[in-house]
Amino acid sequence: MSITNVSELTGIQRISEVVGSTLKQMREYAKAGMTTKELDDFGGRILNEFGAKSAPKLTYGFPGWTCISVNHEVAHGIPSELTVLKEGDLINIDVSAELDGFWADNGGSFIIGEDVNNHLPLVNASKIILQKAINRIKGGVKVSEIGRFIETEAKKSGFKVIKNLAGHGVGRSLHEEPHEILNCYDHDNKQRFKKNSVVAVETFISTGSTYANQGKDGWTLTGNKGGFVAQHEHTIIITDGKPVILTGANEIWG
Ligand code: CO
Ligand code: CO
Repeated sequence: MSITNVSELTGIQRISEVVGSTLKQMREYAKAGMTTKELDDFGGRILNEFGAKSAPKLTYGFPGWTCISVNHEVAHGIPSELTVLKEGDLINIDVSAELDGFWADNGGSFIIGEDVNNHLPLVNASKIILQKAINRIKGGVKVSEIGRFIETEAKKSGFKVIKNLAGHGVGRSLHEEPHEILNCYDHDNKQRFKKNSVVAVETFISTGSTYANQGKDGWTLTGNKGGFVAQHEHTIIITDGKPVILTGANEIWG
């Protein structure tokens, strides 16, 4: 969406704060021994208290309030009573929701308890790359240049990117134009970021895989070459200068 008046600004700010705060509280709540279903139900209760509706449930009939992907799951993991979190697990929570016709999206990867499996370099690279990429976005910048930047930065840090997952416009629905804010260079994409528009920028930084494939459950994505993936995502408003971070309440940057 493009922000044209104060009520649109207020609406997108409110839902962005809701999803940001929900993500932060879920991250703090997540502990070894807990199932991802318990964690998701906790998140679902928070969204409900705010009067917000789960975006993936509303849009796609996703079987959970939030997407929770653990270890080799790249994205769209289904919260389950069978998935018990363990010390050192790499976990990604993605929270997107709707309130009063406005939609926002955010996500973050982190480690359960102590980093016994050494996932921290991957998680930190993803966080820093998102920050650097967002700082380069302003009205007129080519979408493909941000993809090129993310891939270059990932390589510099010794990682790869998932090439078939992307950030996207957001605001009046979960996925809007531009539909593919990729993590790699797409020569054919001539789109430019527009001032006052709202987009969700997300990293998919990987230790080995370069593509994500859908699993047998019809939702869960896993990498084509295994390994691990970290994702961090903010919903932002594009300006002439530095973007406005709408989902800062998630505190993924500490
Ligand atoms: Co998301
Ligand atoms: Co998104």
